[in-house]
Amino acid sequence: MKKDFVSMSDIDRVTFLEIIRDACVLKEEREKAMEKIPLKGKVLAMLFEKPSLRTRFTFQTGIYELGGMGIYFAPSDIDIGKRESVEDIAKNLSRWASGIMARTFAHSTVTGLAEHSSVPVINGLSNLEHPCQILADFQTIYEKKGKLDNIKLAFIGDGNNVCNSMLLASGIMGVDFRVAHPKGYEPDKEITEEAKKLAGASGGSITITNDPKEAADGVDVIYTDVWASMGFKHEAEERRKAFASFQVNEEVALCADKDYIFMHCLPAIRGEEVTSEVIDGPHSVVFDQAENRLHSQKALMLKLMR
Ligand code: CP
Ligand code: NVA
Repeated sequence: MKKDFVSMSDIDRVTFLEIIRDACVLKEEREKAMEKIPLKGKVLAMLFEKPSLRTRFTFQTGIYELGGMGIYFAPSDIDIGKRESVEDIAKNLSRWASGIMARTFAHSTVTGLAEHSSVPVINGLSNLEHPCQILADFQTIYEKKGKLDNIKLAFIGDGNNVCNSMLLASGIMGVDFRVAHPKGYEPDKEITEEAKKLAGASGGSITITNDPKEAADGVDVIYTDVWASMGFKHEAEERRKAFASFQVNEEVALCADKDYIFMHCLPAIRGEEVTSEVIDGPHSVVFDQAENRLHSQKALMLKLMR
C-alpha cells in the first residue's frame, strides 16, 4: 500500500481485495469487538485551569483505548467559578459525561465538583494534591523493585502537591517516607498528621527533616519536583535561594542505596532541583513514570467508570 490514498489509482488489485475482505471481517465482528471495550461510549470531561502534557495526553488516550472519549477544556473555555459556578458546572457535566477529570488551582474546586456531581471526579492535580501521579509512581516502584513492602523513599524539595499525595500514599502502603524541605516549605500539616496516623496502622513511618542527606540515607527511591509549582511561579526567584542546598545531585545520590531509583513527576528544570547527571543518568526512571500515567489511569477509570 502506498503512503497516501489520494486517487483511486493509488491501490492495486491485491490491495483492493484485501481492503474489501478486511471490511467484511470488521463488519462481522463489530458487535463482539465493542463488547471487549469496557468504557464503550463513555465520555470523560477534562477540565484544565493549568497547562499539562502528561495528564492531558494520558487521560485522553486512556479513555480512548478503553472505548470512550475525552473532551478537553482549556483554562479559558469554562473559566471555572468566574463564568459559571463550580456547582452549576458539575451539574451540567453530570448530565452528559460519565466522569470528570479536573486540574485546578484551589483544591476546593475539585472537591466542589465532586460534591455537586453525580459522576466520578478525578483530581488531575490541584495545589494541594496530585494523586494520579502517585498511582503511576507506585506502579513504577513495583516494576523496578519487584515489591512495595519495605520501601524507603526520600522526597527532597518543596512540600507541594506531589509531596502531599506521596505522604498519604506512603502512610497507606507502609513506606518509610522521609521529606527534606527548606524551612517554610513544609508539606500540608493536616496531611502530614493523617499520613502519620495511616503509617501507624500500616507499619510505615513518616520523617520530616531539613537535611537532604539525612533523608536520602540508604533509600531505595529519591524523588524530587520543581521548586516553584504552577501557581507559585512568581515566587521562583526567592525559592531558588531557599532551595539552593536541596538540589538532588551526585553527592546526595551517593547517600542512597547503590540500586536506588531517581523519580520526578516532570516537567523538570535541570540544574535546579536536579542535575542532568542524575535525571539523565542510569538510575533515573522518570519516563517510566510518565508512561505509567497512561496505564494506572486506565485502571483507575475502570474502577470508577465501568
Ligand atoms: N506530571 C504531570 O502531571 O505532568 P503534566 O503537568 O504535564 O500533566
Ligand atoms: N508540583 C508541580 C507538579 C507538576 C506536574 C506543579 O504543581 O506544578
